[in-house]
Amino acid sequence: MSEPQPVYLSDYQPPAYRVTHAELTFDLDPANTRVEARLTVERHPDAAADAPLYFHGEQLALESVAVDGETLADNAYRHDDRGLTIARVPAAFTLETRVRLAPEDNTALEGLYQSNGMYCTQCEAEGFRRITFYPDRPDVMAVFRVTVIGDAEREPVLLANGNPVERGELEGGRHFVTWEDPHPKPSYLFALVAGDLECVEDSFTTASGRDVTLQIWVEAENLGKTDHALASLKRAMRWDEETYGREYDLDRFMIVAVNDFNMGAMENKGLNIFNSAAVLTHPDTATDAAFQQVEGIVAHEYFHNWSGNRVTCRDWFQLSLKEGFTVFRDQSFTADTNSAALKRIQDVAFFRTAQFAEDAGPTAHPVRPDHYIEITNFYTLTVYEKGAEVVRMLKNLVGWEAFRRGSDLYFARFDGQAVTIEDFVGCMAEASDEDLSQFMRWYHQAGTPEIDAHGEYDYVNAEYRLTLRQRTPVTAGQQAPEPLHIPVRMGLIGTRSGHDLSLTLGGEACGKDTVLDLREAEQTFVFTDVAEAPTPSLLRHFSAPVKLHFPYSREDLAFLLTQDSDGFNRWEASQRLAMLALDDLIAAHRNGVEKVMDTRVIEAYRTLLNAPEEDRAVLAEMLRLPSEACIAEHQPLVDVDAIHAAREFVRQSLGFALRDEFMALYQASQSAEPYAPTPAQIGRRSLKNVALEYLMAIEDEAGIEHCRAQFDAGHNMTDVRQALTLLVHSSRDDLSAPALRAFGEKWAHDPLVMDQWFSIQVSRPQGDVLDRVKYLMEHPAFSLTNPNKVRALLGTFAQNRINFHRLDGAGYALLADTVIELDGLNPEMAAGLLTPLTRWRRFDDTRQALMQAELERINERSLSANVYELVDKALG
Ligand code: ARG
Ligand code: ZN
Repeated sequence: MSEPQPVYLSDYQPPAYRVTHAELTFDLDPANTRVEARLTVERHPDAAADAPLYFHGEQLALESVAVDGETLADNAYRHDDRGLTIARVPAAFTLETRVRLAPEDNTALEGLYQSNGMYCTQCEAEGFRRITFYPDRPDVMAVFRVTVIGDAEREPVLLANGNPVERGELEGGRHFVTWEDPHPKPSYLFALVAGDLECVEDSFTTASGRDVTLQIWVEAENLGKTDHALASLKRAMRWDEETYGREYDLDRFMIVAVNDFNMGAMENKGLNIFNSAAVLTHPDTATDAAFQQVEGIVAHEYFHNWSGNRVTCRDWFQLSLKEGFTVFRDQSFTADTNSAALKRIQDVAFFRTAQFAEDAGPTAHPVRPDHYIEITNFYTLTVYEKGAEVVRMLKNLVGWEAFRRGSDLYFARFDGQAVTIEDFVGCMAEASDEDLSQFMRWYHQAGTPEIDAHGEYDYVNAEYRLTLRQRTPVTAGQQAPEPLHIPVRMGLIGTRSGHDLSLTLGGEACGKDTVLDLREAEQTFVFTDVAEAPTPSLLRHFSAPVKLHFPYSREDLAFLLTQDSDGFNRWEASQRLAMLALDDLIAAHRNGVEKVMDTRVIEAYRTLLNAPEEDRAVLAEMLRLPSEACIAEHQPLVDVDAIHAAREFVRQSLGFALRDEFMALYQASQSAEPYAPTPAQIGRRSLKNVALEYLMAIEDEAGIEHCRAQFDAGHNMTDVRQALTLLVHSSRDDLSAPALRAFGEKWAHDPLVMDQWFSIQVSRPQGDVLDRVKYLMEHPAFSLTNPNKVRALLGTFAQNRINFHRLDGAGYALLADTVIELDGLNPEMAAGLLTPLTRWRRFDDTRQALMQAELERINERSLSANVYELVDKALG
């Protein structure tokens, strides 16, 4: 096999032939599905009259091809493993093809496949070419009419995009339904579902009075788990009308839950398909975090109806056009419907851990990549989350009103078109009259920019001079980075008064909170009339996706922790303070020096516990230590053991020193209210469970009793899962084993709960984890073909830093073996699983060598393009 070749953005050409109407017929069979396509094709006006026709098609058994009703002889076309070429075709014609495929053998879960016996599809990005021959690219938009034929018993429900227009019985116990979607769409938004499903129905009346039927389709046993998704959907529909003026545009909106799905969910027009984990909830089976995630994903997919479907991407390099914007929209929705500060804290904590790591590794790429081998590898944190940060900066730069005008302009001007990031930013520039040309660099340059900040107070002149110096590291394949346009939101807090000071910059008053436009490599901002020496609060609300360094002392941070008027930066102060203590302890561990806990950190926590934040969820986040992965991002070279030891030491020191405070907090946070996923309840549970974690870190006897009681009470999954986790992660087998057994037996019938059961045991710190993973891979509830199971068991294991990075290399070997096996089944999943190994250069020499050896072992195999591209970058 020849090496897979990259595709370049600079090579973009419009399609020579496009499809305007697609009529598809599916005659479903697990081993032998027949797909007939009747496509109305026209030549692009700029294409040469003798341009050959080339349509994508992979893994299709071709039975016949006809042009304008004439069946082509075998030598009138060429069919290879990538597609179909016809040398001469008319300027406008009908192409008919018939192919066969085997959904039951499709373990890649791309194209048409079976999950638990039901048929479903996943076409984004390039899955439609595994269904029929087609110009499978987003800039070809057609009106679809789809007939699905199935067995009336096994597949009583037959769904596709749009509206059902015809149905009937056929011979041999078969039946059919025909669907029409009036909105032209690219092939990646095509969807089909068939199976024995039941639905929960509701309705929504749009602002202009259109009645929309809402349906969530699930297997019968899950009928009781759709309430939250349905309520979230209605909230999202209303929010998009009120916030962006966007209404839904079909008579029905359907969501289907499937068990085997490579990612969270997919925004197919009118027929969203969801990983069951991203839609099903019940207080007994789903945690608060899962409830929140369902709300966010339901909203995300719904919002795509405009940002993605009505206006789509010209090519896949523009992926962030729809994803960055839609993630920003779903984040804003969640912030508006829940606690805004909490949402920002959670998003940033995740972003700085995971996206910063991606940006610092061999797969770093810009928000808009300029080349790729396998597009599926680019559904990344950079394209999604950094893309959302870039849109957020745009909004903050031009202000909400101009941003909303720009958004209206974008949807009006490009409705029904496939466009580029320049088109989007262009609308924002036009609506705001801002020059955004320097800002565009955020889309081209990879790597996390760093800002070194430095401040000086001049008592005599009452001036504060703030100097900001920016640099973006050079990442793979990138030229010398240029300075970015970085919005730095900030305030100055009077160190004596504890109040935000009024700011005067360049003679102009700018309130108590302002945004500095950093555009040069280095800039100094001089604030005048600064009445007292200030402590700066910088990058409030994480106003740009950068690393900001400022030489804060521990006293500064303890001050900001309680005095900063920005809730996000109060949390930020807690994290910086913990990080300073952790840095010292990491150094002590490495040098074999006795570890001593910084009492200033303990006192800062004591203050927090005694004068609590109003927002309990935010307080809980402030009390939570940075994760080991997050700490690692701050280290030049990752010392797995030192990080783990230092973090444990801090947890225990805080637990011992503040035991009574945590106990009081735990007891005060108890409640017998019936479960509801409300911000108030979530905040209370979160705080209670943080307190319990500290009590369990010291294995306090009374704490253990609370933990057991919380587990036994079985009040809701949030509490049960936390209690189970703490029991299983404790050093005591008499706590761990019975709880794990009881939980596993109770929930053996529920795959989503079993996922949690798998993760909890393989995230524990004890040294038996590797053996457990191997043992659990043989468990009847585990399956290598179910992505949720692979993530729960192996994905979680690879995040268990001390166990995955064992010095004997057995963790790496297990992951590599699994990647190799999985690559033959599901390349997208295999590539996802491989990612931790690609970061090998961040570790010590011994681990580097071990990880590199595993990458090389994988590289010797014949690989999918997905895994090939990752390994190639990692070793390159
Ligand atoms: N567009 C989907 C979403 O963001 C994700 C599709 C991902 N496709 C893939 N092959 N990973 O909601
Ligand atoms: Zn999306």
